[in-house]
Amino acid sequence: MKIAVVGTGYVGLVTGTCLAETGNQVTCVDINEKKVEMMKNGKVPIYEPGLELLFNRNINQGRLHFTSNLAEAIEEAKIIFMALPTPPGGDGAADLSYVLGAAKDIAKLMKEYKVIVTKSTVPVGTADKVTAIMKENTNQEFAVVSNPEFLREGVAVDDFMKPDRVVIGTTDERARKLLGELYGPYVRQGNPIVFMDERSSELTKYAANSFLATKISFMNEIANLCELVGADVDMVRRGIGSDDRIGKRFLFAGIGYGGSCFPKDVQALAKSSEENKYDFKILNAVMDVNEIQKKVLVEKVKKYFKGDIKGKRFAMWGLAFKPETDDIREAPALYIIDELLAAGAQISAFDPEAANNVKALVGDKITYAKDQYDALKDADALLIVTEWSLFRTPDFTQVEELLKNKVIFDGRNLYDLQKMIDCGFYYNSIGRKV
Ligand code: UGA
Repeated sequence: MKIAVVGTGYVGLVTGTCLAETGNQVTCVDINEKKVEMMKNGKVPIYEPGLELLFNRNINQGRLHFTSNLAEAIEEAKIIFMALPTPPGGDGAADLSYVLGAAKDIAKLMKEYKVIVTKSTVPVGTADKVTAIMKENTNQEFAVVSNPEFLREGVAVDDFMKPDRVVIGTTDERARKLLGELYGPYVRQGNPIVFMDERSSELTKYAANSFLATKISFMNEIANLCELVGADVDMVRRGIGSDDRIGKRFLFAGIGYGGSCFPKDVQALAKSSEENKYDFKILNAVMDVNEIQKKVLVEKVKKYFKGDIKGKRFAMWGLAFKPETDDIREAPALYIIDELLAAGAQISAFDPEAANNVKALVGDKITYAKDQYDALKDADALLIVTEWSLFRTPDFTQVEELLKNKVIFDGRNLYDLQKMIDCGFYYNSIGRKV
């Protein structure tokens, strides 16, 4: 099939590349000409494991193309995916100007029936708005489809190639058939393509992310309670997770959820509920808990040092909001850095991918270590912020030698509690005994 993808951000690039992988002819279009040139030369502008291989394979085999010319991209395309930014506007609601602007441009260029698919996370009712603006600008027939993405950064290629489900929101029969065919190769193991109307599909995306965020905030509260009653959150997690109705995944207590999706989507759903005069009580609690949880690690540090951390030096392992990404949007690390610096502490940080992004934001207010052990030199304590695999089995003899004190604050519960006690570390993690 001939496909166009408008917008080559994270979602657009993964979508375009993975659609080419099953033999479709895909043209990705972006207004940024420099970026288009870069991609034509086989350079992937984002860090995403596994993407580069597929990206170059499909370029070399002539299935993946790039252009800055919208007309050229959509001319022969049957299906046009819009993967455009929907940043939060001043009032917290998603800003739709990119999506509506592109819809208008596409409508003006259309010479035949086309299917316009919204991949961006958009508020309920957006498909209707896109339809209205297109109707004003073309006499051709078209269908506007909501097809939310459920890609996790770091495993996005796998999530696209083997999705748990594909959600397609459309009441147009032709569009339904075309998208069913397009996604067929990705659900061969029998995972469902769930067809529904546009509004339900738009809401599904917010509901999925908000439900997952709720799971996390719930477990963070259980962890806080565990500390007070002397229970262990990891035991509780295993105890409840083996019940199929609850499920094992996404039950890890930590230092709050971050990233470009959960915080934004929970907020947007709360906002849209408010606009519809519905008081979505759980969502407000989920957000409140997350704000508190981002502070937990610094609180623990301050308590240990009796409120005085001025002049103390802290090693930080991890900056990205989660492993396998260089993304620091809404990363708990940024909050921790701010708080520690404000209290007069020094920080030496190491992250395998995200250090440059943090440097661009906070500059030389902290030091950037060349590896995880380099970060430990003369530090009063180690703070574990992101659960990169690299940090899971460190050489504890080196850790002990390099640190000034044998003190670890672990925001991700990476180590066995008994082992740490046996090694003589002061080890303070989340929802477990100290
Ligand atoms: C999330 C969803 O998982 C994807 O399905 C969705 O497509 C995507 O948002 C999106 O809307 O684009 P992502 O933001 O990449 O994906 O990251 P997750 O792996 O979901 O992690 C989100 C946050 O939750 C991280 O800060 C992570 O540390 C935290 N988390 C996750 C926990 O604190 N505990 C857990 O058990 C799981």
